[in-house]
Amino acid sequence: MEKMWAGRTDGNTSKIADDFNSSIKFDKRLFEEDIKGSMAHAMMLSVKNIISKEEEEKLLSGLESILNDIKSGELIIDENAEDIHMFVEKVLTERIGETGKKLHTARSRNDQVALDLKMYTRSEIETIISKLKDFVTVISSKADQYKKSIMPGYTHLQRAQPVTFGHHLMTYAMMFLRDISRLNDCRNRLNVSPIGSCALAGTTYDTDRYFEAEKLGFDSVTLNSIDGVSDRDYCVELLADLSLLMVHLSRLSEEIILWSSWEFKFVELSDAFTTGSSIMPQKKNSDMAELVRGKSGRVIGDLVGTLTMLKGLPLAYNKDMQEDKESLFDALDTVKMSLDVYIPMLNSMIALEDNMINAAKGGFINATDLADYLVKKGMPFRTAYKVSGSIVSYCIKNGKTLDTLSLDEYKQFDELFENDLYDAISLETCVSKRISVGGTSAASFDKQLEFVKTELMKF
Ligand code: ARG
Repeated sequence: MEKMWAGRTDGNTSKIADDFNSSIKFDKRLFEEDIKGSMAHAMMLSVKNIISKEEEEKLLSGLESILNDIKSGELIIDENAEDIHMFVEKVLTERIGETGKKLHTARSRNDQVALDLKMYTRSEIETIISKLKDFVTVISSKADQYKKSIMPGYTHLQRAQPVTFGHHLMTYAMMFLRDISRLNDCRNRLNVSPIGSCALAGTTYDTDRYFEAEKLGFDSVTLNSIDGVSDRDYCVELLADLSLLMVHLSRLSEEIILWSSWEFKFVELSDAFTTGSSIMPQKKNSDMAELVRGKSGRVIGDLVGTLTMLKGLPLAYNKDMQEDKESLFDALDTVKMSLDVYIPMLNSMIALEDNMINAAKGGFINATDLADYLVKKGMPFRTAYKVSGSIVSYCIKNGKTLDTLSLDEYKQFDELFENDLYDAISLETCVSKRISVGGTSAASFDKQLEFVKTELMKF
């Protein structure tokens, strides 16, 4: 195939080198950004009298027809082309003749690809933020539904203190809210236009980089041309944000998998989001959650791969950087798919509240409140902690719980115990009295919900 860059060499590369070098199989998804970027470039060239108005119009209508034809399926992207930039330029010249060859004045594929990728990334971030907003809304309304349902809270996966299922779920709303804010930061930081940096050194033409930036929705332009073409920080930053988002999803998945097991039986997933086994008729597996947990690994891999690809690169552009795309696209696709399955899965998940409260009744999760009871009657906390610990140990030996121990037995440990202790250590009290900011009480929950709602309105 004839090379647009033939000249210095005859361009007769071997087929195997062409295939190896070509990125079109994966960068073809940038066609819209590439064409829109080229349109802004043609306008700028004409505004600055580098090309004539008639040439601009020819370029614009040619580019517009290519965009429409790719969208309608009339023009199939040729996978033998080197990349999407070369493909568009070639078709343009076929369609409008010699004028097509003027488009690449005062730019290079190096700033072109940087521009396309930033535009693509920016719109993908916006899509993911909007999915995340839906997700946080689903999580917080599910949490609201269960704001009074008591379950054991865990540390070290050992029953620790009673919390509400609503409070527990709300933790995830907070995590995903931070993900939204991080992605939004990334979007704002990347929104600086590289076009006009050209190959690496800028250009001798009297261009207007601000004009192009404004046309394409950028806030400003990069102020160092070498940085303009060699910066892939935004890819790394986005991959890090996406990795963390997947880690959050993975932690939630792990909990859903545990909660769905016979050992816990805290939740029931809808049949629409579970699978059966080919041999064991009783199985209802949480495959979606398991897959999301598994896929978090590949997104982290995409981040590590990109960091490693960049770490030894001298300035400015090197072909290694073509490798930025597959990792980035893979991570974006994985996150979008994971959120698409997660939102309805969580929305249709049901809590088995009786099992939760029964689990909360075992495991002495009100022992802290027993110690606090003594503290409120004047005993120093360390002493109260010891007394309560011995009572728990006594209960375990005698097959009793803190609620079934008689007052006489309590009094053998300390005279401070009175009849009001039973109310002080009831699970309902343990939860409703935790009114500290961010605590598990319903009053605190309402404040959390209000916070989440106002935060969501900011994005
Ligand atoms: N396909 C290339 C990439 O994705 C475009 C830039 C090519 N630049 C160059 N100097 N060969 O990175």
